[in-house]
Formats: sequence, structure tokens, C-alpha cells
Amino acid sequence: MNTTIDRLTTEDLQERVRDRKRKKNAVILAHNYQLPEVQDIADFVGDSLGLSQAAARTDCPVIVFCGVHFMAETAAILCPDKKVLLPDLEAGCSLADTATAEQLRAWKAKHPGAVVVSYVNTTAEVKAESDYCCTSSNAVKIVQAIPPDREILFLPDMYLGAYVRSVTGRDVHLWLGECHVHAGIRPDTIAAMREAHPQAEMLVHPECGCTTSFLYYQACGDMPGKTYICSTEGMVRHVAQSPASEFIVATETGILHRMRQEAPLKTFYPAREEAVCQYMKKITLEKVLRSLEEEVYQVTVPPEIARKAKGAIDRMVAIT
Ligand code: 13P
Ligand code: SF4
Repeated sequence: MNTTIDRLTTEDLQERVRDRKRKKNAVILAHNYQLPEVQDIADFVGDSLGLSQAAARTDCPVIVFCGVHFMAETAAILCPDKKVLLPDLEAGCSLADTATAEQLRAWKAKHPGAVVVSYVNTTAEVKAESDYCCTSSNAVKIVQAIPPDREILFLPDMYLGAYVRSVTGRDVHLWLGECHVHAGIRPDTIAAMREAHPQAEMLVHPECGCTTSFLYYQACGDMPGKTYICSTEGMVRHVAQSPASEFIVATETGILHRMRQEAPLKTFYPAREEAVCQYMKKITLEKVLRSLEEEVYQVTVPPEIARKAKGAIDRMVAIT
């Protein structure tokens, strides 16, 4: 990184990013887990579904995607005529890495006739092998829309899959993938937080390692009161609308910045301080500036893979 940029303050860097963005006629999209200073220069901050919808809507020829690689790929699939830039190619996703297209083909061969639902946290190649894509905000709805007599293969997140299976009661086979950040949010962590803040509402992302125990409580009719399982955007909407003033937030801690902006008078406790996605945090203001100035790193998807993957995404959008 050049030394002139190194000496700039956060505000100077943000000003420079805004200036380059205007000159390039670019749009900046940022996921809810991005660093606060990156969220603050974005035109749109949201969850995976919201970001792909924002990418599809924009008229700008350049999209700087502040998120992880599979999200930028999804934008490239939806906007083949736009230049989609990811400021750091090392912004990957350990969950997406748990399933390859070859492994999925082998799984499908063992379950002929099954419908494949893949979470958006997958590579374009895996989406291309899938019947439906889904996100944490619409996974239940997608599975409910599949004819009841069909077997379903759900990948790659086992906690989200188990949650969907429990809510829908469908014959859902699970891929045993997990996100290391969310899997680390365990039932005992949640129990300790609940004891420390008994008055707080509990918000849980369905990828968390504790969702399975919530499902067990739900099945026994013993669900702890004031618990909501939702996507990152669902959580932000919830805190803005709820009459409660304190919340325990079980997901990546970057979302707290967004929540504090949407509901500045409320108090938020991260369920686990260490729940930080190092891939999301690869994107810094310096890298966003470089991305705009040098148009790096363009994310592209081969046309045939993009065509098939888009089919799975379009079938999702048609249902939601
Ligand atoms: P959302 O779709 O809820 O934003 O989740 C994306 C993600 O990567 C969760 O770790
Ligand atoms: Fe992937 Fe987990 Fe990071 Fe989300 S939090 S991007 S699922 S590694």
C-alpha cells in the first residue's frame, strides 16, 4: 500500500472513496458484517438476498462488492454486463468451501430425482448444479414451495438445513458443512448470556451452532421466551420495530454497527465477542479505494456456468 494512502485519516479515505466512486459512476454494496467504516461509505448495506437484489437493480456500470467472493459471483451472474469488483480476492467463505460441484454431483447420483436446494453461500459451479438457490431469509419458503412428495438435498450449512427441516417437516437430507464463525456460538454461550441479560430479546442467525438446541426446545414446547431466528437483515428489521430495548445478537459482530445506527437508543450484546469473520474483515477502506482506482479485482463467471446458476437464482426469486 502506498505511503500517501497510509497517512490518510479514515475520514480522508472515505472522502477519496466517495470522490472516485462519483467519477467512475460506481455503486458500493456492503454486507452487514463489513467493518463499520466500510459500511459507512456504501450506497446499500444489507444481507445476501438484499445485496443481490441491489446489484440487479443498479444502473451503474461498476459494482464494488464489499463482501465475500460468492456474493460478488452472484452479482456477476445477475449483472453480466457490469464490472463487478471484489477489493480483496482472499475474501472467501469457509462454508462455501465445504462443497464442490464434483461432490454435489456424487451426492445427486446417490439420490436420483431429489431436488437440490443450495444456500447462497456456495460457488457458482455448485449453484449451476442446483435446482434452487436460497438465502437465510427465504430458505423455509423455498423448501415449502417444492412438491411434498420430493426428496430434498440441502447444502452446505447443516444448521440452517436442520432448521428448515424442522420448520417444514420435509424429507431434507443435510450436507455436513458449517460456518466456523456461527458454529462457534454454542448453546452454553447462549445460556450464559441469557442469564446475564434476562430482560433482553435473543436474535439468532440460523447458521449458528445453537439453533439445533433452540429447535429441540421448540419441539418440546420449551422455547426460551423472546427468541427469534432470522437472517441478518431480519435481525436489523426486528430491532428497529421491537418495543424491547436490549438484544443479545447471535451472529457475526459486524452487524452491531448497523443495529446501533438503526436503533441508537437500544442496547446490543454480541452473543460471542469472538464471532468475527476474518474473510469479511479482509475488505478495508484502502482496498476499496484501490479497487476503484485500478478496477481490481474483477469477478467473472464462465457464461455456461452463469446461465445454469442463474436458473437456480431465478427460481428462488420467483418464489420470494
Ligand atoms: P445473510 O444472508 O443472513 O446476510 O447471511 C450471509 C452469511 O454469510 C452469514 O454468515
Ligand atoms: Fe462465510 Fe461464515 Fe464468513 Fe458468513 S460468516 S461469510 S458463512 S465464513
